[in-house]
Amino acid sequence: MTPEALGFGLGLRPQHYDEILSGSPRIDWFEAVSENYLVPGGKPLQMLDRVRERYPVVLHGVSMSIGSTDPLDREYLKQLKALARRIEPAWVSDHLCWTGMGKQNLHDLMPLPYTAEAVRHVAGRVTQVQDILGRRILLENVSSYLTYSSSEMDEWQFLAAIAEEADCHILLDINNIYVSAYNHGFDAETYLERVPAHRVRQFHLAGHDNCGDYIIDTHDAPVIDAVWDLYAAAVRRFGPVATMIERDDNIPPLAELEAELDHARSIGRAALLRRAA
Ligand SMILES: [Fe+2]
Repeated sequence: MTPEALGFGLGLRPQHYDEILSGSPRIDWFEAVSENYLVPGGKPLQMLDRVRERYPVVLHGVSMSIGSTDPLDREYLKQLKALARRIEPAWVSDHLCWTGMGKQNLHDLMPLPYTAEAVRHVAGRVTQVQDILGRRILLENVSSYLTYSSSEMDEWQFLAAIAEEADCHILLDINNIYVSAYNHGFDAETYLERVPAHRVRQFHLAGHDNCGDYIIDTHDAPVIDAVWDLYAAAVRRFGPVATMIERDDNIPPLAELEAELDHARSIGRAALLRRAA
């Protein structure tokens, strides 16, 4: 399935299971958080199977910790591979981050120092993961609140270098680019211009909390206009990439998210017309 064919999706949340399965929402595909469905049997997996019967699904993980110096979690990868075999997702993604070390989990997606050494380290681990899963993965840019004095390159160079060296794909979170650009003072459109277009397979959109001096990536509110503008720029640059809205907290009725997704469709359509002109 081509990324263009996937269209406009939504994060699959248990609050919406009934509405999704009893109606015909205007949603082209769903993104399921892998960790919620790793345990064989039980209701969550049953629901995912039923959603999958009707819609394309992609799997999105939060605990691969691809940037950590701990060994890769082989048991997790085994479970993820089994889930992927069952669900047959269009693709599997996780974040370009580390979530802990020495078996301590920080329960947060921490950025890495942008160094050549870290590029080699992460790319080597991505290659191992892709060998184990038997498929290419997508890596997502995270939002961040700190930088490392040891960084030798910009975030977009780091992301691009890993994708090229590991031959993996990119999930570009447009809101995360906006949040990190605001927090660290870089230009978000430059970020978009420098990411290799042939690697990008999916976009994320989400809301955040602007605290004035900094932004917190909360995923608990509608997408703001400035992020819609950046999304339009992304569609002009990358074309009709599969797009989805992430809402993790303060989750509204499905109809509200359908309407927000319709807004993404109309912005995407207008941006594609401008791209073709
Ligand atoms: Fe995201």
